Amino acid sequence: MLLGSGRIIVFTPTPFVKILKRQTGRMAVEKHFYRGAPQERHQARRHREILRLCSGLKGSLFDYGCGWGDISFALSTNHKVQAVDVDPERVRFAAEQYPEVAFSVCPEDGSGVSEERFDIVTSVVVINFTDPDVYLKEARRILRPGGHLVLAAKVEPPVRTWIKSKMGVGLDCETFVRYRPTRNQLFAKLADHGFSIVKTGSFYDPPFDQWRNPRDAAFKFGEQVWGALGAHWPAPYCSALATI
Ligand SMILES: C[S@@+](CC[C@H](N)C(=O)[O-])C[C@H]1O[C@@H](n2cnc3c(N)ncnc32)[C@H](O)[C@@H]1O
Repeated sequence: MLLGSGRIIVFTPTPFVKILKRQTGRMAVEKHFYRGAPQERHQARRHREILRLCSGLKGSLFDYGCGWGDISFALSTNHKVQAVDVDPERVRFAAEQYPEVAFSVCPEDGSGVSEERFDIVTSVVVINFTDPDVYLKEARRILRPGGHLVLAAKVEPPVRTWIKSKMGVGLDCETFVRYRPTRNQLFAKLADHGFSIVKTGSFYDPPFDQWRNPRDAAFKFGEQVWGALGAHWPAPYCSALATI
């Protein structure tokens, strides 16, 4: 590009793309969140588990912390779905990609909807980023009597942590996590808020994610064995279907 002063600027796309990403935010969204894109492995595991727990449930559904909206959309095949998130950028993207679902921004300490409004509340890896007591109280408030909560959360299985420390495997990078319970602590928290557990489950990270060295690879391999054996207690993600 030739400027008036006679200086020539070589215009490479990289900084331009970076500026665009910063300005719009949209280009930073990973491609698997776009409508019709092939699912990424972790996303596929999350979807499978949530759809399994929701199968057989009927009625209106509230996705509380919907992120980029892909799970809300998947659930909208069988339910009338309303979805919220605290992040306006995610909500804007979700509403653009999945217009069938009613998306809106919610405050940090509430859902923004009236009480006893929904038959099902889904919460997929959201509670870890909240004050769990505020969040679960709100989830319960908006459920109709007899309604269901479908919850997935990242957990910290003591055995997994112990093995990781022995193997020198690095801790996951989770700067924003506020609440990381064990599986039993999570179930106890649900009970404290008046939920009865109907069904539980778990899922694992995919085998080829987050390899930094051979120890990571060995750990991930071991994890796949536990996962294939259907062991819930060492899994990094716990799931539950609960009712009030
Ligand atoms: C790990 S993402 C999960 C998103 C989506 N549920 C999924 O599984 O793809 C966590 C989401 O929780 C949202 N979040 C965090 N705190 C929240 C709160 N208090 N209320 C609603 N959403 C919240 C974040 O903005 C983020 O989109």
